[in-house]
Amino acid sequence: MRIGVYPLPGLPEPARNPARWFKLTEKQLSEIIPLSIGCRAGSRQAARIFMLMYSETPISVKQLTPFARGDHRLCFQHPENDRLCVKINREGKAKALKEDAPFYKKFRSERSFDDNWREYQAFQQPAIVNNTPHVWKHIPRCYGWVTTDLGPGLVTDYYATADGLPAQTLENYLQQNGLTTAIQSALDAFASFLRETLLLTKNLLPHNLLVVEDQPAPRIVLIDGFGLASALPLAKHSRYFARKHVEKRLHRMKIRIAWELSDKNQTWLEVEKQQRNTF
Ligand SMILES: Nc1ncnc2c1ncn2[C@@H]1O[C@H](COP(=O)(O)OP(=O)(O)OP(=O)(O)O)[C@@H](O)[C@H]1O
Ligand SMILES: [Mg+2]
Repeated sequence: MRIGVYPLPGLPEPARNPARWFKLTEKQLSEIIPLSIGCRAGSRQAARIFMLMYSETPISVKQLTPFARGDHRLCFQHPENDRLCVKINREGKAKALKEDAPFYKKFRSERSFDDNWREYQAFQQPAIVNNTPHVWKHIPRCYGWVTTDLGPGLVTDYYATADGLPAQTLENYLQQNGLTTAIQSALDAFASFLRETLLLTKNLLPHNLLVVEDQPAPRIVLIDGFGLASALPLAKHSRYFARKHVEKRLHRMKIRIAWELSDKNQTWLEVEKQQRNTF
């Protein structure tokens, strides 16, 4: 069986070029499975999911209805495993972003405008690689790539309600319920998690956070916005700056939540401008 291997969190990168295919040894298999899907190496479940993920046969999603459409990506449930989510770039999005970019960014490759690719890279950050498995409480596992008939698909955990529908976003939850004590506790737990792991994220926006209906209390999961947006990634190289970065994101998240709950007389851009000094 020929298998495509992609660098997975916690492993030395076996192939820098994701398009390169090579045979996997038994040993590599046993290393990859427990880290990437958190189940016992060599178990049937592991082998089944592994073959699903790394088979060369493209999966067909064209005929399926995405369960969500973000600005950049279409999100599907994996047709062969309903616990997995496949995210695919919207057609032409990376190209359009490059065309709209300011002149000093135009020299960058199209890939650097590819949201899926950048997210995949952000999944390789030390906060994720070094903190597994604890880190999976508030972020999905990223299993790498699958070939689809709409282009490369990035595969992560899918979060569902008890009825199998996509979990509610925090944005939705706040609109429906306001800032309940249950959600405030979940947000506090999420903040402690970020401070502890120093996970590097972009701004924490309520539509990129899910409210997972755990019992007895809900849990916050970040599903988009991993990594750094800044051109000068100091936080990548120093714990001091990483801490500052995390505090900034948490402060902004608090202001954003207050704005979501307000009458929205001001646009978010206006609020951001006013708050710039405190951010
Ligand atoms: N793993 C997941 N499980 C359940 N729902 C998800 C998952 N990932 C994404 N979603 C839903 O799909 C929506 C769009 O996903 P995502 O934010 O990843 O797309 P995007 O195009 O990058 O978004 P943006 O519009 O923020 O650029 C999310 O707001 C969320 O409601
Ligand atoms: Mg999003």
